[in-house]
Amino acid sequence: MTTPWTPDSWRSKPILQQPTYPDAQTLAEVERTLAGYPPLVFAGEARELRRQFAEVTQGRAFLLQGGDCAESFAEFSAPKIRDTFKVLLQMAVVMTFAAGCPVVKVGRMAGQFAKPRSADDETQGGVTLPAYRGDIINQIAFEAAGRVPDPQRLIMAYNQATATLNLLRAFAQGGFASLDQVHQWNLDFIANSATSDRFQHLADRIDESLAFMRACGIDEERAPQLRETSFFTAHEALLLNYEQAFTRRDSLTGEWYDCSAHMLWIGDRTRQPDGAHVEFMRGIHNPIGVKVGPSTDPDELLRLIDILNPDNDPGRLNLIVRMGADKVEQHMPRLVRAVEGEGRLVLWSSDPMHGNTIKASSGYKTRDFAQVLREVEQFFSVHQAEGSWAGGIHIEMTGQNVTECIGGATPVTEAGLSDRYHTHCDPRLNADQSLELAFMIAETLKKVRR
Ligand code: PEP
Ligand code: CO
Repeated sequence: MTTPWTPDSWRSKPILQQPTYPDAQTLAEVERTLAGYPPLVFAGEARELRRQFAEVTQGRAFLLQGGDCAESFAEFSAPKIRDTFKVLLQMAVVMTFAAGCPVVKVGRMAGQFAKPRSADDETQGGVTLPAYRGDIINQIAFEAAGRVPDPQRLIMAYNQATATLNLLRAFAQGGFASLDQVHQWNLDFIANSATSDRFQHLADRIDESLAFMRACGIDEERAPQLRETSFFTAHEALLLNYEQAFTRRDSLTGEWYDCSAHMLWIGDRTRQPDGAHVEFMRGIHNPIGVKVGPSTDPDELLRLIDILNPDNDPGRLNLIVRMGADKVEQHMPRLVRAVEGEGRLVLWSSDPMHGNTIKASSGYKTRDFAQVLREVEQFFSVHQAEGSWAGGIHIEMTGQNVTECIGGATPVTEAGLSDRYHTHCDPRLNADQSLELAFMIAETLKKVRR
């Protein structure tokens, strides 16, 4: 019935959200170059993440996924990578303690460069140029030459992704991820936060647990789990020319993996069952995600699941629900009922960012932190009502003290958005807002477990 899959079979399908490269020959040369370069990840690691996803799907773990909306060439430095990684670790410790189960950590990092856009062009002062589609494609500055899609940018993105992943691996294994250290950072956060009263109790209990473990002789010398962590990477598989170049046959199993990241996902705008992105993703064996927005119809979703996870493997498919706080209750229950009712095993996670984007009167794209919290809360309550497992969250965040989303305990105001608004695409939670969200989720997870 279905035609055979090959790494390039997506090329004969309708495709959305792609740049038009004026220089097809250079693009083809770059693709060949990348196909000869070492992959970023090893298939065995992607299989390990699949195993961990299966644990989440079955209610025995929780998924935390976060990072920039778009990584950029300009905002590339060790401190930026370190601070995002650090906040994700801090969030994970709080959530692990509250949920009493492992938290699988996945960064939107080391490859999150290509962006779908609402319009192909952008007009400023009577001049129309191609829209910015992410640093892997063209330049953000509104300037004619730089907006032309440039194939060399794929190589620059690969180099940046390689260096990023190298540092992340060093941080994860080299002592930076020590549990005592991460807990100390959380204490510092609470000491400086306006919400300290609410979260102090949880932090004290973590403190006591660590002291108890030490007293029992479980310390970082003896238990490597306390000083190391595992961390995975993911990005939207949007620019398939790049993804195909890293799609390699695993020498151990003979299966195809997209080795540009451990996990890849399909965006809300490119999940057409007959489209190129679904075609590409069905053939790779990585764990994958699909964004599920308010326009998703239950039958279409089941059809997508049939194509992407025909074996009903619990570690394969992450449905990333991004409705908007005002639409979760209206649209999500019927999707959960359809999927669970048909016995399809999927990892449900909540992206509380993309349905809550608004434009401030100053013109900045922003998100209200209160709406982000509301969407997560409703995601949990729908799953509780339906008897399914709310498996994780997927957020746009940074470890920097940016002013991109309004609200939070130390509130970012509309007037303050311009102070440190650095994102290359959508507004991100800053470090404090991310940690506040983690403590809020921790409280919810505690209740759910009870
Ligand atoms: C994103 O995750 O940055 C994104 C574009 O999301 P969505 O496809 O859900 O709009
Ligand atoms: Co985004």
